[in-house]
Amino acid sequence: MLDYDRSLLKNVAISVATLSLTIYTTYKLTKSYYQGKPPRPKDGVEELIGNTPMVKIRSLSKKTGCEIYAKLELSNPGGSAKDRVALNIIENGEALGYLKRGELGYVFEGTSGSTGISIAMICNSLGYKSHISLPDDTSLEKLSLLESLGAEINKVKPASIVDPDQYVNASKKKCKELTKTNRGIFADQFENTANWEIHYKTTGPEIWDQMDHKIDGFVAGCGTGGTIGGCSKYLKEKTNNKILTCLADPQGSGFYNRINYGVMYDNVEREGSRRRHQVDTIIEGIGLNRITTNFALNEKYIDLSFRVSDTQAIKMAKYLSVNDGLFVGSSTAINAVAAVELAKILGRGSRIVIIACDSGSRHLSKFWKEALTINSNITLEEIV
Ligand SMILES: Cc1ncc(COP(=O)(O)O)c(C=O)c1O
Repeated sequence: MLDYDRSLLKNVAISVATLSLTIYTTYKLTKSYYQGKPPRPKDGVEELIGNTPMVKIRSLSKKTGCEIYAKLELSNPGGSAKDRVALNIIENGEALGYLKRGELGYVFEGTSGSTGISIAMICNSLGYKSHISLPDDTSLEKLSLLESLGAEINKVKPASIVDPDQYVNASKKKCKELTKTNRGIFADQFENTANWEIHYKTTGPEIWDQMDHKIDGFVAGCGTGGTIGGCSKYLKEKTNNKILTCLADPQGSGFYNRINYGVMYDNVEREGSRRRHQVDTIIEGIGLNRITTNFALNEKYIDLSFRVSDTQAIKMAKYLSVNDGLFVGSSTAINAVAAVELAKILGRGSRIVIIACDSGSRHLSKFWKEALTINSNITLEEIV
């Protein structure tokens, strides 16, 4: 064969190979981009609730030798996991005849923010009115959101649960007054079992499927106990009790001692040392010094607890933002610190999921004001 022919053949072969590779790559990229059908339009915001995404936290995974994922509950339309709970409570109220679509009805709740926002959003979509009692030191962002949603707001001084003017009790009282002549429900997220049940029915199964049935650890904080209780029960059942479930607790909260040592107690409760707030932490939404129904019913599915300080959480929030582009709220930062501790126990190669309950944008004026001051070069060793 002539040299010229040989070179022509070689060029043709290279061109065919390049073309095939280009076609194959384009096919693969297009396939992954359009994987499945795009979601169909929904009939209202309540239909957008749930089926939240899961994302790998690459920085923490690389550092620990594990795979650490965040279940992005902050992607719910109301910005937190509480959307699921609020919708389930309202739908239960409808099923029991306390609320009726198309008729005036009230949903009352005592909440430090997230649940109120979810209730207000869903009420607006379904044609009900929301009435929210909350502590007067709730972050400005949550307050503005509630006001923007047109919820009726009742601000009360932070107080112990035994005080009749504490925000949960204040809400219950308002509900009794108004439902004498109107339809309505008291959502009662701490005691209402519709709370943990929806996490058992939806959040837990979503995590299980998204992890391809391979999961070794689960981390969540505890406010009402609904998320950690419902998800832990589901994941324990699915893994034949093999998963390690972990409660991430802020300073001042009693769950850490309750889970690890069986007593609901924190040092700040020593006589004379207790400060104004029930749980003295900058973290919002989690931490408590009483046992709620949602916690009690599923406590047996929680294996261990890590205590995380405010300082650790503040540093972790900045670390995740700078290294992963994950801009999260205070309770998510706590979970991330606990996940690193859990990774040490589970060992390299383990797969851990944390709940990312809400976004940093809900915490700009309090928690993120502190987190902003942290050096962007902060290392994981300086946090955990
Ligand atoms: C921001 C945030 N994270 C976590 C939680 C805890 O969730 P749960 O009430 O299911 O224990 C809450 C509860 O209000 C919250 O507001």
